[in-house]
Amino acid sequence: MRAVQHVQDRVVLITGAGQRLGAATAARMMEEGWHVLVHVRSSVDAAQALLDQAEATYGESRGSLLVADLTDDEGLQHVVGKVLEHPLVQAHGLAGIVHNASFYSQSSFEETSLEAYRSLNRLHMEAPYMLTQSLLPALERANGSVVAVVDTSWGRAWEGLAHYTSSKAGLRQLMLNLAGELAGRVRVNCLAPGAIMAAEWEAEHFAKVLEKVPLGRSGQAEDIAAGIHFLLTNGTITGNVLHVDGGWTLNE
Ligand SMILES: NC(=O)c1ccc[n+]([C@@H]2O[C@H](COP(=O)([O-])OP(=O)(O)OC[C@H]3O[C@@H](n4cnc5c(N)ncnc54)[C@H](OP(=O)(O)O)[C@@H]3O)[C@@H](O)[C@H]2O)c1
Repeated sequence: MRAVQHVQDRVVLITGAGQRLGAATAARMMEEGWHVLVHVRSSVDAAQALLDQAEATYGESRGSLLVADLTDDEGLQHVVGKVLEHPLVQAHGLAGIVHNASFYSQSSFEETSLEAYRSLNRLHMEAPYMLTQSLLPALERANGSVVAVVDTSWGRAWEGLAHYTSSKAGLRQLMLNLAGELAGRVRVNCLAPGAIMAAEWEAEHFAKVLEKVPLGRSGQAEDIAAGIHFLLTNGTITGNVLHVDGGWTLNE
């Protein structure tokens, strides 16, 4: 039987965690006592402020910053190296990965270049694949788990979002497949947010979307963070897609 790991020894890597839903998740995990490896691409100042705030609140460091572009092979290697050389990971393994980094934009099929599509596939599918594969031994050592943040678009047609929705569907299937293949070694789940936090370009459209949500409102970033914390810590759940969407999927 594995020894019970103390919460302060638990390390989670969260990608794209400098702002918005990723930052809320990092804050929640730090509040729970975990050490959070806060990955960002460009939101360095926001992430540092998040880490400083946690240190001031809890009287100790609860995280560290990792900077990399995840569409870049060197960037991915950099993240893996930094995670594996972290003293807490060396001592106890890696208790979680949250694949959260994303790029959400709307453009018609004809206007979306193959280059843009490849970049999104790299961010949503190849980066989670490579990070999970490279960090698997460290995850196993900590009896860890993986959560991918997908969305509720799966199985339906969306205007101008073929590039985004197909790469998220790939991520979802990758995770469900891994849940089966790695069962008994590492748990793997997805969290699917509904309409939680509008991107700048969809602010107007967002109100219309909310009309279709049974609860009639968007959720809070903290609801996503709570769902991710739940999936990371419930030792019996694997291969699940947790919808945090106010019932949106009921109405489409
Ligand atoms: N917001 C919603 O209502 C909603 C709805 C459904 C699903 N989701 C999913 O929930 C997750 C979080 O949503 P969000 O709206 O908070 O996400 P977001 O703001 O669109 O993106 C999160 C972070 O991804 C990082 N990122 C983008 N391109 C990257 C790259 N090439 N390399 C590394 N990092 C990169 C950015 O980091 P930097 O800022 O450091 O550049 C960004 O802050 C996403 O996976 C999203 O698809 C969100």
